[in-house]
Amino acid sequence: MNWFETAFGAHYPLMYAHRDVAEAGAAVAAIARLAPLGAGACLDLGCGAGRHLPFLARGGRQVVGLDLSQALLAAARDPANAAGVALVRGDMRQLPLGGRLFTAVVSLFTAFGYLGPLAAHGAVVGEIARVLRPGGHWYLDYLNCAAVRLELAGGGSPQRWRDSGPLAVGEQRSVAADRVVKQVIVRPRPGFAAEAAALGVPAGGLAYGEEVALFDPAELDALAVTHGLRRVGEAGGYVGEAITDPQAPRWLLVYRLEERS
Ligand SMILES: C[S@@+](CC[C@H](N)C(=O)[O-])C[C@H]1O[C@@H](n2cnc3c(N)ncnc32)[C@H](O)[C@@H]1O
Repeated sequence: MNWFETAFGAHYPLMYAHRDVAEAGAAVAAIARLAPLGAGACLDLGCGAGRHLPFLARGGRQVVGLDLSQALLAAARDPANAAGVALVRGDMRQLPLGGRLFTAVVSLFTAFGYLGPLAAHGAVVGEIARVLRPGGHWYLDYLNCAAVRLELAGGGSPQRWRDSGPLAVGEQRSVAADRVVKQVIVRPRPGFAAEAAALGVPAGGLAYGEEVALFDPAELDALAVTHGLRRVGEAGGYVGEAITDPQAPRWLLVYRLEERS
């Protein structure tokens, strides 16, 4: 089993509780400022529990949310998220969708970078280019890899424990050559075994390592261009931070599919 099949279970929204609906609205507004989302159909690739879907669907835009995680898609079926939105289970490396369907594909809050080396991500970028209409945009909301490298340069963070609802969560982050690795332990808090089990966390807990590749914008550009995608916009966060700011919280990159591809 890949780590992302364990990590993105029903417990996942509690792991990042601060990544909430309000932040999702800010993210969608930020990417739309870089290039208009347009009136055409939009694919939320790695939609998770669907917090961005209502913002993407505003104004009657047709939206498809796709994710590998059955548990998160079940959460995304909440009518508050999913009214008028189609939810599809699938793998972003081989999309169960026809070509040229979307004017926008969004990969929000680092729904990218899980496959190891850059070349392995060619399958994902190729699929994005296949389902986009010429002139359509791919919006990538990625971590600021330079800031992550700087923060963890001295050998990584100590293990930190915190409570989140019925769960106790231990995390320790470090940087390997080409990726950031977060070792995660999730256990039921005392007295919360039933609630934790309902979230897929057994009495003995879960342990896994989240691994996200650290790519530079130039590397991503080089991969994207081989699939006909050219960078047309960038920012360093949801409130207009510059991507050149070393402390920028995010890297937002927008690519446009060439008309002739
Ligand atoms: C960091 S989460 C972001 C979720 C959502 N965009 C959000 O911001 O709440 C990444 C998502 O990508 C999904 N994912 C990971 N690998 C995938 C794959 N190969 N195909 C489809 N979805 C995948 C996970 O299940 C997870 O929901």
